[in-house]
Amino acid sequence: MPAPAVAVPAGRPLTHTLITGASAGLGLEFARLFAADGHPLVLVARREDRLAALAAALRKDFEVDVQVMAVDLAAPGAPAALAAGLRAGGPGIRHLVNNAGVGCYGPCVDRDPQVYRDLLDLNVRALTDLTRLLLPSLLAAPAGLRRGVLNVASTAAFQPGPLMAVYFASKAYVLSFSEALHEELRGSGVTVTAFCPGPTRTEFFGQEAMIPPGAVLPDGSLDPEALARHRRRDRRRMDPTAAARSGYRGYLAGKAVVIPGRGNALLAQSSRFLPRAAVRRIVHRMMRK
Ligand SMILES: NC(=O)c1ccc[n+]([C@@H]2O[C@H](COP(=O)([O-])OP(=O)(O)OC[C@H]3O[C@@H](n4cnc5c(N)ncnc54)[C@H](OP(=O)(O)O)[C@@H]3O)[C@@H](O)[C@H]2O)c1
Repeated sequence: MPAPAVAVPAGRPLTHTLITGASAGLGLEFARLFAADGHPLVLVARREDRLAALAAALRKDFEVDVQVMAVDLAAPGAPAALAAGLRAGGPGIRHLVNNAGVGCYGPCVDRDPQVYRDLLDLNVRALTDLTRLLLPSLLAAPAGLRRGVLNVASTAAFQPGPLMAVYFASKAYVLSFSEALHEELRGSGVTVTAFCPGPTRTEFFGQEAMIPPGAVLPDGSLDPEALARHRRRDRRRMDPTAAARSGYRGYLAGKAVVIPGRGNALLAQSSRFLPRAAVRRIVHRMMRK
């Protein structure tokens, strides 16, 4: 039998919650929710100043230990280096929240292939690596200790997404991977939850790769009409605090799949009752808008 990829230090207590993408949006909300329940944290993202400010606020508000690690998880070897650093001297991880993720909008052929490599490295590879690398210690923890993995997928996971083809496919992977692990680990004491939010008011839609190429004017500024449209849509998107709360509760309840909001749940499930060709066309029409 091959040796496990990760040696599990005997008797190492699992104490902390590791949250990736904690510098903004849903990751920041998860950090507040776990800290409010007294969980010490390890926060990961690229913007160290943001992480440090959040850590200071959480220590003050909730009196928990908060450690920050500025890491570009899409960089080669970064998830393995992060896991090795934790093993070498960091705290044991009791809850892993794989939240960091990026999107990309526009016809697939128009985007630089590197944009897609980076997206897949973060949304798929880093999430898979971190889960795999931390699983042995999660499995070795004492029975009765509530522990597990919360993977952030999306309602995008439930159907193909013309104009966001690679992003939707990456989230379909996250959903499939998480559900499969949920089943593999049944009875082990480790739960795996796929959290599938719909459109949520975070920095996600302001990411460079999410801005439609046509919305950038020749001088590099944004077309004011496109910006106004974006702001109108943003108001209709789900509140990130409410979305994260639903994911947090579902994770604590050990659910396999959590979709926040009745409308999102209906939309996600409706694709099961329509012909695939119809679903593809409807999503394409919606994405063009
Ligand atoms: N907002 C939505 O409508 C929506 C809907 C469904 C699913 N989701 C999913 O929810 C998750 C969180 O997104 P969000 O909406 O909260 O977006 P967000 O506000 O843009 O936050 C994304 C987080 O990921 C971090 N991140 C990005 N690239 C990274 C990298 N290479 N290495 C490490 N961290 C990185 C960002 O921090 P730094 O920039 O500091 O690295 C930030 O903390 C994502 O997986 C997203 O796909 C979002």
